[in-house]
This record gives sequence, structure tokens and C-alpha cells, in this order.
Amino acid sequence: MKSYDVVIVGAGAAGMFCAAEAGKRGRSVLLLEHGAAPGEKIRISGGGRCSFTNLHASPQNFLSGNPHFCRSALSRYTQRDFIALVDRYGIAWHEKTLGQLFCDGSAKQIIEMLLAEMQAANVTLQLGTSVADLRKSDEGFDLSLSRGDEVRAASLVIATGGKSIPKMGATGFGYEVAQKFGVPVTETRAALVPLTFDPATLERIVPLAGVAVDAVVRAGKASFKEGMLFTHRGLSGPAILQISSYWREGDEIDIAMAPGMDVFETLRRARSDHGKQAPATFLSTILPKRLAQRIADDAGATGNLADASDALLRKLDAAVNHWRVKPQGSEGYRTAEVTLGGVDTHALDSKTMAAKSVPGLYFIGEVVDVTGWLGGYNFQWAWSSGWSAGQVV
Ligand code: FDA
Repeated sequence: MKSYDVVIVGAGAAGMFCAAEAGKRGRSVLLLEHGAAPGEKIRISGGGRCSFTNLHASPQNFLSGNPHFCRSALSRYTQRDFIALVDRYGIAWHEKTLGQLFCDGSAKQIIEMLLAEMQAANVTLQLGTSVADLRKSDEGFDLSLSRGDEVRAASLVIATGGKSIPKMGATGFGYEVAQKFGVPVTETRAALVPLTFDPATLERIVPLAGVAVDAVVRAGKASFKEGMLFTHRGLSGPAILQISSYWREGDEIDIAMAPGMDVFETLRRARSDHGKQAPATFLSTILPKRLAQRIADDAGATGNLADASDALLRKLDAAVNHWRVKPQGSEGYRTAEVTLGGVDTHALDSKTMAAKSVPGLYFIGEVVDVTGWLGGYNFQWAWSSGWSAGQVV
């Protein structure tokens, strides 16, 4: 049986980063990945350019059963630390919007950087390998690998990610390991995901497929001002993905498609200044034409603005800036960017990611109940949590 100081399961963002950090400390590290290539989600992230962190990352950008849990890791390994690493590798990047940093070139540059860091730290990466059996021993953990070999690990790090996009290699392995060792797991659900609607609502959305607006979308106390997209399946775009992490079945979402504008007052002014215009024509100065026409038609605003009553203008205002609609569900893990929930943070040490009740066992990255907003936050969590465990395993 071959022995390692550290065995890490899952060569995604968190696993690779943790492996390099532990290796730099002189630990012998075996990194196991059941897929054919490491960092597949990095490769497809950010439309192939990887939004690798966010300039404004701080604990309030994360959801968790314990909102304070992420504080320690995020402050010990920050977005500035990761940017400095990216700069050392000469990877060009730019801020797209809202602090989101993307590679100028390709997400593959981030994967190559992580592989180079691991190589310099003598990490052994074994692809096409999963764990067939796992036992706790006095020395740590004994693992039977899918290829038949047996390995022993003083520390075992679970970095198998969440459930999203199963066809890219997501498994429930991390949650199973937690359960096996009595580490609690909170309820999981698809997040950062497009929302779907009942047939009657969808019928009204579909003709607008392809229309994009800047919107403020609210669910309860949460609200996001970003782009929203009508699609053939429902609503998508950054504002919808963001709110999907907060929305729950049975709740309505409230959508403002001309945020910050008093549409009633604007229409009243237009009624006196441009009374001969059709309401749809005027609305198309605020909204995409197809959407403006739809809103005017639905409100029965057929004549000229001059003929429109205050009641009608209020109806138009409500349709533009207070569209209350009840999603039926989401597109689920098939398209979700992340999994909300996971290994219960109350059972982990926030400084090291160690399971408090199982010496030598660690959970990092998305498998943990820490979920970031859209826009580089989830990778920052992978780097910060991976780094934290990497200092102690
Ligand atoms: P990750 O999922 O990256 O890695 C887990 C690894 O474990 C995988 O390689 C998997 O194959 C492996 N594995 C699973 N089960 C195993 C088993 N039983 N045995 C062995 N190996 C196993 N975030 C962000 O900040 N910016 C962005 O631009 C994007 N964009 C984006 C686009 C899309 C399409 C998706 C789906 C997601 C994003 N994300 C993102 C989210 C981000 O990709 C995600 O939060 C991180 O990849 C999580 O990193 P982890 O290392 O925890 O898991």
C-alpha cells in the first residue's frame, strides 16, 4: 500500500489549488480525478474566459447556513492574492462589469497555471480514478481506488464539487463521504439557474425569446440589478440566475424593467408633450421594441397617448416596473452553475475546513454549504477554502 500525507479527491478549482499549497509545504500529495481531464468546469466557465474572481468579494456575497463561516478563509486568501498569482503567470485579464475579472485569452490559462503550480510542488495527479472504498484507520484513511490500487492518506480532502451539470462529471461523492462519517449535510438545490414557468405564463414569455433588458429582480429581501433575458424555456440572464439562489417554490419575483424610472410620471409628461404617439411607440424609447409592444397590447393601450387615462398609465407603469410573476421551478442541475447547500459549515473548522468530529478529514470548495453570487465569487471560494486547507493538511 502506498502512503501519502494528503489524498485529495476531485481535481477541480479547489482540489488543484489545495494540492499545490500542500505540496509547496513539502507534503506528499495524490490528487484523484475520475474524469479524463482536470478543471473541466474552469474550462467552460465565464463563456470560456473564466471569471476567476471578483474585486469586491466579501462574505456578504455568499449564501450559507452560517453566513460568518466563509469570513476567515476569504480574509486569509483574498481576491488580491489570486490576482497576484495570475499576474505572476503573465495571464492578461480585464474587469468586465461589477468587479468580475475575466481572462483576456482563455480559461485554459488558469488550468495551465494550476497544473504548473502543482508540478512545481510535486503533486501526483491521477486521472480516470475514483474511490471504490474508503475506511478510517489509526493512521488516517485507507482508500481502494477504482483501478485496483490501495493507498493510505494521513489527511483526506474532499473537493468533488456540487451536483450541477452531471454530464460534466458531478457526483454526490462528497455528500456520501460526509454522511458515512456522520458529518451533516444541509439540503441542496440548484442555484444560479434559469427559472421556468407554468404553461400559461410561458406562452406569454416565448414570443419575447431573445429580448434582453437591464432589470432589478427581487425575491423577498434580495434584489439584483443586472441583465435579464427572455428565452424559449422561461427567464434567464444574470439577474435571474442571481435571484434563483434566493427564490423558493411558491414565491413571486418582482421585476422592474426600467429600474429607477418613474414610468407613470414619464408617461404623463409624454402624454402632454407627444400626445399623438402610440403608447407602444413611446415605451419603445425605454424598452426593446417587441417588449414595449407586448406590454402596450396587454394593457389594451391601443389609441394615442393623448387618449390614455391615468389609470391606463398606471397599468403600464405596473407592467414595466412591478411585473410580479411566480416561477414554477428552475431548469435544475442540468444547467445550474452551482449547488446551494452542502456539507454543514457548523461541522467544519472555518480556519482549516477540517471536519470537527473526524480528525484528518477536510471539505473544500462547492461541496461545502457556501455558495457565491454569480461573477467570480464561487471560484474565489474554491481558492480561499482550498488555500486554507492547504496550509494544514
Ligand atoms: P469542481 O466541480 O470544479 O470540481 C470537482 C471535481 O471533482 C471535478 O473535476 C469532478 O470531475 C471531480 N469529481 C466529482 N466526483 C468525483 C469522484 N467521485 N471521484 C473523483 N473525482 C470526482 N464560478 C465562478 O466563480 N466564475 C465563473 O465564471 C463560473 N462559471 C461557471 C460556468 C458554468 C457553466 C458552471 C457549471 C459553473 C461556473 N462557475 C463559475 C461555478 C464554478 O465552476 C464552481 O463553483 C467551481 O468549479 C467549484 O469548484 P470545486 O473545485 O469545488 O468543484
